[in-house]
Parts: sequence; C-alpha cells; structure tokens
Amino acid sequence: MTSSFKSIMVAGGAGFIGSNFVHYLREAHPATRVLVVDKLTYAGNMDSLKQSLGDEAVEFVEGDIADRELMETLTTRCDAVVNFAAESHNDRALLDPGPFVETNVRGAGVLAYAAAAHGVERYVHVSTDEVYGQIADGSFKEGDELRPRSTYPATKASGEMMILAAVESFGLQAAITRGVNNIGPYQHPEKALPLFVSNAIDDKPLPVYGDGMQVRDRMHVRDHCTAIDLVLREGETGESYNVGAGNECTNLYMIEKILERLGKPASLMTHIEDRTGHDFRYSVDASHLRALGWEPAFDLDAALLDTIDWYRDNEWWWRGMRSQDFEAYYEELYGDRLRQAGPG
Ligand SMILES: NC(=O)c1ccc[n+]([C@@H]2O[C@H](COP(=O)([O-])OP(=O)(O)OC[C@H]3O[C@@H](n4cnc5c(N)ncnc54)[C@H](O)[C@@H]3O)[C@@H](O)[C@H]2O)c1
Repeated sequence: MTSSFKSIMVAGGAGFIGSNFVHYLREAHPATRVLVVDKLTYAGNMDSLKQSLGDEAVEFVEGDIADRELMETLTTRCDAVVNFAAESHNDRALLDPGPFVETNVRGAGVLAYAAAAHGVERYVHVSTDEVYGQIADGSFKEGDELRPRSTYPATKASGEMMILAAVESFGLQAAITRGVNNIGPYQHPEKALPLFVSNAIDDKPLPVYGDGMQVRDRMHVRDHCTAIDLVLREGETGESYNVGAGNECTNLYMIEKILERLGKPASLMTHIEDRTGHDFRYSVDASHLRALGWEPAFDLDAALLDTIDWYRDNEWWWRGMRSQDFEAYYEELYGDRLRQAGPG
C-alpha cells in the first residue's frame, strides 16, 4: 500500500466495524493518528474501543455526522476519512425509518461535503451489498442496478448517491465499499450471530426467521478492515468496490455451528414468522477489489468459530448491552412471534 496518512477520521468508530477498524489501524499504521467520531447511539459502545483508547495517538470526539459545524471543524484536522457511521439494523428500520434517513442520507452528505470543502485527500464511504437487493443465482457486479428492497438498504443506496454528488460537484476523492455480512468481535447483540450465541449461552430460544434458508456471505470483520484500508489507499475516486469473502452459507448452517460449538441442543432453535422484505440471498463478485491485491484471510468456518469463541469468552462485553432497553426492543420484535411459535 502506498499512501500514508497523518490523521484518519473514523466516523462511527464506537460501533462494530468502526471499532475493529480503529484497532486494525493502530496495528497496521502505528504512525497515523486516529480521530474517532461517534454519536454514541444505542449501537455505540466505548467498551469496544478500550484496547486502543489509552493510546495517545487515538482521540475520541462524541458527535453527530449530521452536525455541519462540527464536521467542518473536524475535517480540517484529517487528511483521510472513513465513514462507518450509520443506523445499521434492518429490523429497527421497519419500526422507525426516521433515524435511518437522518444519518444514512443527510449525515452521509454533511460529512462528505465538509471533507470536500476542507481538501481531505482520501475518503471511503462504507456501504453494503444490500443496496443491490436479493439475487437467486450468480453475483452482483458494481455496475449492476441498485434495487434495495427495504428501508435500511434504501437509505444506504441514497447515501451512496450523496457521495457521488460530492465527487462530481466538489471533487471529493472518495470511493465506496459494498461489504457483505460481517461477523466478529464487538457486534451488537441485536444482530444475528451475537444474538444467537448470547441466547444459547443463557439457554433461551434462538428466533430463526422463516425456514432459516436465507443465504449470506459471512465475512470476518478483520477481512473487511483490510479491504477498506486498501480501497482508502488505492481505490479509484468515484468507484465502488464489492467486498465479499465467498463464505456463503444459510442461517441454519450458522446456527448449527453455534449450537455444536457451545454444546447446546438443537431444540433451542425456534422458527418464527419471517420479517417483511427479508432478502433471500445476497451475493457479490469481488473481483474488482481482488484486482487491487486483496484476499480474505478467514474462510467460512474459521470466521464462524473465531467469532463464536469471542462471544463465549467475552460476556463482560455483551451482557451490558442486553440492557432493559434491549429487552424492551427484543419483546417488541420477537415476543409475539416466539409465543406463536411455541416451545422450540
Ligand atoms: N455489519 C455488517 O454486516 C455490515 C456489512 C456491510 C456494511 N456495513 C456498513 O458498515 C457501517 C458500520 O456498520 P456496523 O455494523 O459497525 O454498525 P453499528 O450499528 O455497529 O455501528 C454504527 C456506529 O455509528 C454510530 N452512529 C450512528 N449514527 C451516527 C451519527 N449520526 N453520527 C455519528 N455516529 C453515529 C453509532 O453510535 C455506532 O457506534 C455501516 O455504514 C453499515 O451500513 C455493515
């Protein structure tokens, strides 16, 4: 990798992928300062940053990417920006789309426009494979039409348009990544894998949407971090890069691995009514990124086992996140469905 940066802003750095990226940067580029900016919504967690925050090269600012004045100030202090900040949970988007539009579209635009105004040298906007919509066979390429089928990916697709507008109108040196489903340390327990592991540890039912045959490419978050870093340094301005590890599996496969690893019975698996607009399969062709020299380090089982073991060994991290608020949300989303399904 060629470019070296003095200071990188990591927006959304107290979330799952952002915090992993902060730790990755400290190891891979120790001479670079890291400015973490995060609004600390329910999804942000300072505990996820513990291992890097003591480091004098890492600074944390609590703030909103939709706050124009703050973004105007902070972008003067960085030569690169990676934006992870987003409302990221599909199920919550169905309950209330407002925050998704506010952060994923307006916030994405405010931060990008501020970065362009202050001559930030490189910018990566972290998007998702979900912007393409579902696909029965084959894999999406970057030039394919974006056909998001629900609220979260619709706002992510709109956010991408704000970035392309900043590239065209203001010369922002930005590239976009479209990553597949990530697994790894520090993911909020509302998300599938940590939810299933933490429920299984507590001998609670695992709510499985529909038949559980939905297919996702499950990439280890560490591989996503190396891909984003490569795109930051070597990606072309105005280009999008699919980030996929080729680790496709069904939800049922993942759940069986979890139960087997934790020594828990299959009877914990409870099929519940599916959510609306639940995409059946996502798949991307990552050859554009691989042409830059990227290779994932984790195959499917290595990614799954590393992640399951991390949640098994780090209850201190996720127990606090399964707070009263979380339990209220869990009841709203799964309560009736689990009662209708009856015992597993
Ligand atoms: N998790 C995945 O599997 C996956 C896959 C591909 C792409 N992505 C994308 O990667 C990014 C990070 O995803 P994640 O899973 O780490 O999400 P996350 O929900 O764990 O973290 C999001 C972080 O953004 C912060 N945030 C939210 N709104 C903000 C705002 N207005 N200003 C500043 N900070 C704000 C939150 O406090 C949180 O720390 C998102 O853009 C998401 O769309 C995620």
